Amino acid sequence: MRLLEEKINTDGKVLSENVLKVDSFLNHQIDPQLMLEIGKEFARIFAGEGITKIVTIESSGIAPAVMAGLYMNVPVIFARKRKSLTLVDDLLTASVHSFTKNETNEISISKKYVNENDRVLIIDDFLANGEAALGLVDIVQKSRATVVGIGIVIEKSFQHGAQKLKDLGLRVESLARIASLSNGKVSFINENVEELIK
Ligand code: G4P
Repeated sequence: MRLLEEKINTDGKVLSENVLKVDSFLNHQIDPQLMLEIGKEFARIFAGEGITKIVTIESSGIAPAVMAGLYMNVPVIFARKRKSLTLVDDLLTASVHSFTKNETNEISISKKYVNENDRVLIIDDFLANGEAALGLVDIVQKSRATVVGIGIVIEKSFQHGAQKLKDLGLRVESLARIASLSNGKVSFINENVEELIK
């Protein structure tokens, strides 16, 4: 998605070979207009898939997921990372290990909102090692709903998350795919070049 790549180029900061900081439009301050365009793009990509629910994870997945939900006219459920005071019964849970933060979180959603009749699109802001996405897939599968696909805002393609998910037969669609963050520079995987090579 060209608009997103331009935003990453102008406002993203390469913190290291592995980490891109995008807190000016996605992870802290949020650019609603950009989120709206991102939601529209996910709706376009997954049109015709009969999606009935979107599942994401707090906190940074929520903004793009809600905008996609708006365009697709379906509810959005966000998995919680912490126990909620009111969300106590009938939870579906999965363990998510973050290599970046070296911590494991128990994530959960209520059984009430996803069931075997649902066709679910999973959305998240970043795809790195894929642990969060795998946890969301696990939860959705525990609800017996169908995982239709995974929509990612920024995929770091030099890490292994996307491949792990594709190896499970899952459809992964990322709006920006980063080949490398070497030398303080963001290099994107260029779809057109990829097509020419094929
Ligand atoms: P994984 O789920 O793909 O395995 O990712 P990992 O454990 O490495 O990442 C843990 C957290 O760090 C996630 O956010 C993820 O979105 C974020 N993250 C991973 N790589 C980057 C990066 O290069 N840049 C930025 N900005 N974030 C990255 P989180 O802790 O759940 O945060 P939030 O959703 O509450 O904001």
